[in-house]
Amino acid sequence: MASFLYITLITLLATASAVKSCPPSDRAALLAFKAALHEPYLGIFNSWKGIDCCHKWYGVSCDPETHKVADINLRGESEDPIFEKAGRSGYMTGTISPSICKLERLSSLTIADWKGISGEIPRCITALPFLRILDLIGNRISGDLPADIGRLQRLTVLNVADNLISGEIPRSLTNLSSLMHLDLRSNRISGPLPRNFGRLRMLSRALLSNNYISGPIPSSISNIYRLADLDLSLNKLSGAIPPSLGRMAVLATLNLDANKLSGVIPSSLFNSGISNLNLSKNAFEGYIPDVFSSGSYFTVLDLSYNNFRGPIPKSLSAASYIGHLDLSHNHLCGKIPGGSPFDHLEASSFAYNDCLCGKPLRAC
Ligand SMILES: *[C@@H]1O[C@H](CO)[C@@H](O)[C@H](O)[C@H]1NC(C)=O
Ligand SMILES: *[C@@H]1O[C@H](CO)[C@@H](O)[C@H](O)[C@H]1NC(C)=O
Repeated sequence: MASFLYITLITLLATASAVKSCPPSDRAALLAFKAALHEPYLGIFNSWKGIDCCHKWYGVSCDPETHKVADINLRGESEDPIFEKAGRSGYMTGTISPSICKLERLSSLTIADWKGISGEIPRCITALPFLRILDLIGNRISGDLPADIGRLQRLTVLNVADNLISGEIPRSLTNLSSLMHLDLRSNRISGPLPRNFGRLRMLSRALLSNNYISGPIPSSISNIYRLADLDLSLNKLSGAIPPSLGRMAVLATLNLDANKLSGVIPSSLFNSGISNLNLSKNAFEGYIPDVFSSGSYFTVLDLSYNNFRGPIPKSLSAASYIGHLDLSHNHLCGKIPGGSPFDHLEASSFAYNDCLCGKPLRAC
């Protein structure tokens, strides 16, 4: 009887520990993922051994209930002791194996700042229904974004900045109804912004600078109620700024510098919540609207390298704060207004215009 109980207990314990350790299929998928990568300096994969991939495998964590792999978090820049010991940041080559698509419960995939990982984003990644975070910043990943990326209905973060991604923004991207943070900066993405970009209702940061994006700024962007940070700088955008951008509830940073935008500036931009506005290096023309008020607060107001003409608007001296002002390289003319926002500005803020005068330039 005692031995029977003993055997029952052993069987129970064995079953319990088998349930707790990661599924063999997840372990196999992780090992195939590891096999396609080469990390010569830190040895982060040395811990990827043993049966239970949920236990002490560097950068891997599992769902406490299902015991399936939920997160892969591998960062090449980190304060982790493994980096301190090696006295260097990470470097890794190889590719992201499609085997990760077998991790059916994967919720976040972060493979960031390894500088040398190349190849494409595995197409099958769009079949991971629980994926919330895809962060592949700072590698050498090439190819297009998956055409059916819009299938990732739970995706909140899409960050592929600082890679070599090319092709156009997939039309399905605007189907990512949970997306809050989109970062495509510094890639080789071309073609237009989807006209229905404004469907991304949850978006708070849209960072797309330093690509080859062309065509107009879709006015639907102004439907994104939560958008706080819009960076479209260093692209090939053309056409005018939709006036509705100045009527967005929480938009604080608008960087449209270094594009081919033209037309007059909507006066709404200067009486909005936007405090960081860079329109430098475009082809804007006409007068700078004389609509500033005590509600205008700018940490940065950079209108340099355009074709603005006429005077500096007098109302600018009514602005409650202007930290950095750059009106240089335009065709402005007339007396620089006085008043507190102008007191701390240097001559370089006004240089290279047609005929500006008064402090801090020469007297009129
Ligand atoms: C967006 O989602 C809808 C509904 O799921 C689908 O019918 C449509 O084809 C998707 N659009 C794209 C471009 O994938
Ligand atoms: C505004 O954009 C221009 C062009 O990209 C850049 O050179 C400049 O530093 C930016 N201004 C500020 C204040 O960041």
